[in-house]
Amino acid sequence: MTTVVTFGTYDLFHVGHLNILRRAKDLGDRLVVGVSSDELNFRKKQLRPTYPLDHRIAIVESIRYVDEVFVEDALELKRQYLIERRADILVMGDDWEGRFDEFSDICRVVYLPRTVGISSTDVKVRIRGNGHLSPSAQVA
Ligand code: CTP
Repeated sequence: MTTVVTFGTYDLFHVGHLNILRRAKDLGDRLVVGVSSDELNFRKKQLRPTYPLDHRIAIVESIRYVDEVFVEDALELKRQYLIERRADILVMGDDWEGRFDEFSDICRVVYLPRTVGISSTDVKVRIRGNGHLSPSAQVA
């Protein structure tokens, strides 16, 4: 049984999120997702997510590739979360390339390419401008 763990905010759930969760699940048998708390997001970006934590959790845990969800309260607890969840593989988007190599003593660390042309921030900006998303963002 190979357990894959990944982390993220998953605000305004979009196809980039779906793609990475599907590809993360493909690497193992069980996918566990740490969804970052509203407070953690505020500390990271000085912004609260549009969707509150309970909405983001409800959406992520309903994705068929996801087996379990937990709340990520602090970036400093990543090692503890990986140990507690018995991670064999840590998956992160390649926007984090190299930043989690310190955990390669306890699990394999894999950076997957981000989906081009979409992000939660991009969606927010485009809705404000009443625009559309770039057609380059695809289910892949
Ligand atoms: N992700 C991805 N492709 C995208 C956007 C996100 O693969 N186009 C991945 C991230 O690398 C991360 C996970 O989805 O592993 C959750 O990312 P998150 O930060 O919640 O989403 P973003 O859309 O990047 O949010 P923001 O714009 O607020 O940074």
